[in-house]
Amino acid sequence: MIRMDQLVRAIAVALDIVEGQLLGASTHHGKRIAVLSVAMGRCFGLKEENLSSLATCALFHDSALTEYIISEQRAADPAMRLHCEYGQRNAEALLTDRDVSGFVLYHHERADGLGPFGKKEGSFPLGAEIIAIADMLDVAHHLQTVSAEDLPRIRKRVTEGAGTIFTRRAAEAMLSVLDEKMLAGLRDERIAATVENVIPVWLADVEHVSAFRIAGLAARIIDYKSVFTKRHSVQIANKAWLMGGHYNMDGNLRACLYMAAALHDLGKLATPSHILEKPGRLTPEEFDLIKDHARLTEDILKDVSGFEYICAMAAGHHERLDGTGYHQGKNADDLDFTTRLLACLDIYQAVSETRPYHAGRSHAETMPILYDMAENGWIDQEIVRDLAAVMAEYSNRDVPPPPEAALLGNV
Ligand SMILES: [Fe+2]
Ligand SMILES: [Fe+2]
Ligand SMILES: [Fe+2]
Ligand SMILES: [Fe+2]
Repeated sequence: MIRMDQLVRAIAVALDIVEGQLLGASTHHGKRIAVLSVAMGRCFGLKEENLSSLATCALFHDSALTEYIISEQRAADPAMRLHCEYGQRNAEALLTDRDVSGFVLYHHERADGLGPFGKKEGSFPLGAEIIAIADMLDVAHHLQTVSAEDLPRIRKRVTEGAGTIFTRRAAEAMLSVLDEKMLAGLRDERIAATVENVIPVWLADVEHVSAFRIAGLAARIIDYKSVFTKRHSVQIANKAWLMGGHYNMDGNLRACLYMAAALHDLGKLATPSHILEKPGRLTPEEFDLIKDHARLTEDILKDVSGFEYICAMAAGHHERLDGTGYHQGKNADDLDFTTRLLACLDIYQAVSETRPYHAGRSHAETMPILYDMAENGWIDQEIVRDLAAVMAEYSNRDVPPPPEAALLGNV
C-alpha cells in the first residue's frame, strides 16, 4: 500500500518549486493552507476521510496555476477563473470516490459575492469557504513570517472581514485555530513536520485509480514546465503502460512502472527553465545542473512509504548498463528489467520529440540512435528491439493513457 497522503505532499513540494519560479510566490503555500484547513475542518467535526479529502484539495488548490499561466486563454480570463476550473478538475480526478464538488472551484469566492464566480455566502460549499479564508490570509499576511505580535492585527482582520470577505462560520473557525502555536507550526522550518502530524493517513493500492490519477497529474505538471517537454512525461508513462502490456506484466508491476515513468523527471521542476531550453551546447556547470534532476526526483520521492521500488526505478532512469550513467553510477548488475525499460523509453521519447537542439524525429529516424546506444553497451539490446516492434505501430502518434488515467484528459 502507498501512503497517498505522503505522495500528495511530495508532489505538492514539486509544485511549490515551480510556482516559486513562475510567480515568485512564497513557498509552502499549499502546505500552510492544508494545515489551516484541516484544523478548521476539525472545528466543524468533519470525519477523518473528509479531512483527508479537504487536505488534498488544499494542497492542490493551485495545482493548475502552471497550466493556467501557460494557457493561451489567460488574457481573456482576468478573474483567473480558469485555474479554479482546472484545479477542480484535478481534485475530482484524484479523489474519485469522495465528494469534493466546488472545493477548489470556489476557492477565491467571497461572502459578499465579489469573487470570480459571484457566489455569495451560503451558496458555495464549506470546503471552499475553509480553503478560501486560509488562502486569503496567507496571501495577504505571509503567515510563514508573522510573529506572535502580529496575531491581534490578523485576528482583527478576520473579525472585520466576516460576512463580506470571509463567510461567518469560516471566520469563526479561523479565529478558533489561529493562535501562537498554529503560527509557529506554519513557519518554513516547521511546516513539513506540522503537515506530517496534522494530515490524516490515506492509504491506497498502487493499482487504485487515485494512484494512476495522481501520477498522471504530476506528469502533466512536470511537462508544463517547458514547451519542449510538453508531452514528455505523459507520453513516457503511456508508453510504459503499453510496454507493460506487451510483456504481460502483472497489474501491480505494470502500475509501478507507469508511476515511475510519470514521475521520473519530477526533479526537473527545480532545473532553471533557461537551461532546459538553451539551444546551444551546455557548459559543464549547466550540464551538472541538468544531471541533478535524477537525484532530486529521488530526494522528493524517497520518504513516501510504499513507494520504494517506484522511487528507485524513477531515480535510475539515466543510469547505463556500462556504469557511465548518472546519478548513482549503477551498472548492469544493479539495473533490473523495468528500470532498463524506463531508461530506453526516456531516450526514445527524448530523441523523437522536438528539442531546442534538434527537430522532432519519426520512429524510423529514432530507432537507429537507440540501436547505436545499445551497441555501445549503454542500454538493453533486447528491449530496444522490442520497442522497435511495438512502437512502429504508433509511429508519430501519441500512445493513449491507461483507462484509469484517461479522465485527466489531454489538455
Ligand atoms: Fe488560487
Ligand atoms: Fe492559493
Ligand atoms: Fe531525466
Ligand atoms: Fe525524461
